[in-house]
Amino acid sequence: MANISPSSEDNSISFSRIVIAMAAIALAICLSAFGFYRFQASDPYISQVLAQQGEISQGQEIFNLNCAACHGVGGIGLVGPSLEKVSHRKSQVGLIKQVISGKTPPMPKFQPSPEIMGDLLAYLESL
Ligand code: HEC
Repeated sequence: MANISPSSEDNSISFSRIVIAMAAIALAICLSAFGFYRFQASDPYISQVLAQQGEISQGQEIFNLNCAACHGVGGIGLVGPSLEKVSHRKSQVGLIKQVISGKTPPMPKFQPSPEIMGDLLAYLESL
């Protein structure tokens, strides 16, 4: 029978479109997950910080000047939460991002040099 109804033809076209669209979405999700991973691992600032051998005592001075107003001397917590054992809750990358991203107001966005951030990280890990 050469008499294929238009409606069944439409259905098969829209079905293959759905399959293509789903494949495209799956691909996009994979690519963005991969891109995110690469961003974390290869961000030049973060790898420079992680390459530092941070000085805890330097980090403490920087903390007292910039952070203690909110987090308390020794990171015991004031306006900002206590930072005691914060490195058990957050990864090194997570701690660096917390300081530089400014994503959790009222905590400001800081832009320390990698050396200073390395010292701060060492101090935060000592709390
Ligand atoms: C204006 C006040 C303020 C200043 C200054 C400030 N913070 Fe914060 N900080 C906060 C607040 C509020 C939070 C909680 C944010 C949230 O999770 O919503 C926070 C969260 C954090 C956290 C995450 C704590 C956790 O339990 O996950 C870290 C780490 C941190 N701050 C480190 C620092 C460091 C290091 C500095 C200095 C360079 C600093 N903060 C300066 C207010 C401040």
